[in-house]
Amino acid sequence: MTQRIPVVAGNWKMNFDHLEATYFIQKLAWLLRDAHFNYKAADIVIMPPFTSIRSVEVLVEAEKMKISVGAQTVSETAEGAFTGDISAQMLAKLGCSYVIIGHSERRKYHPEDDANLVDKVRAVLAAGMSPILCVGESFEERRQGIELGYAVQQVSDVMRDFSDEEARKVLIAYEPIWAIGTGMVATPQSAQDAAGAIREYFRTTYGESVSESVRILYGGSANASNASSLMEGPDVDGFLVGGASLDAEEFSRIARLTVKSAKDRAHRAA
Ligand code: 13P
Repeated sequence: MTQRIPVVAGNWKMNFDHLEATYFIQKLAWLLRDAHFNYKAADIVIMPPFTSIRSVEVLVEAEKMKISVGAQTVSETAEGAFTGDISAQMLAKLGCSYVIIGHSERRKYHPEDDANLVDKVRAVLAAGMSPILCVGESFEERRQGIELGYAVQQVSDVMRDFSDEEARKVLIAYEPIWAIGTGMVATPQSAQDAAGAIREYFRTTYGESVSESVRILYGGSANASNASSLMEGPDVDGFLVGGASLDAEEFSRIARLTVKSAKDRAHRAA
């Protein structure tokens, strides 16, 4: 089995102005340094609101933290008369490495749907960044027992026409809507079932090598108490964390537990 580097991404959503963001990063730097955190063992990503991206980056650089910065959405167009929009090029130039695409909150409150999601993924890849495509069922699909097919269909609707090289750079976040911000977390088995089904989609569409490279994250009330058990499934490669990413201590604990779980898992598989 290919060794995939786990990802712990903090989606701050619409929280923290740039001063609060600065305070958070200072605290995180101190916590990770104190814990002798091995930055090579995981990709830690902070995804602030647009207004805090630059402040976060400046501090990450000053503190010599080996973490990445990302954005929570992006325009599918390159430039022009699109009031309020931000292009992928602008984010790349700023130093962003990841962009969330199709988060359920964006699908609900903004016109982010399968048609423009494909173009957004394309724009992010063309700018040299990695998209984190979010999928996941609502309570209704789960009640009907169609949650796996639903998540795979959402992946397939966006991902079917990319090259192998492009597909390899995409991350998928399985975020069941009923688990987001509710304190109700998927069981380790259902997180694994979804991640396994999504990886199987990549295997049948793009082949073994791509499917073994794509990182599949879990999101939805993930925290330091459930991170280790959620990482037990072989196809879960880390987390897209919402609420718990706003607490530097909790976020650094999740990062450390994810690294430890990935290491334990690799030992078990060897
Ligand atoms: P919570 O961790 O707050 O449930 O949010 C998950 C999420 O939406 C991350 O993108």
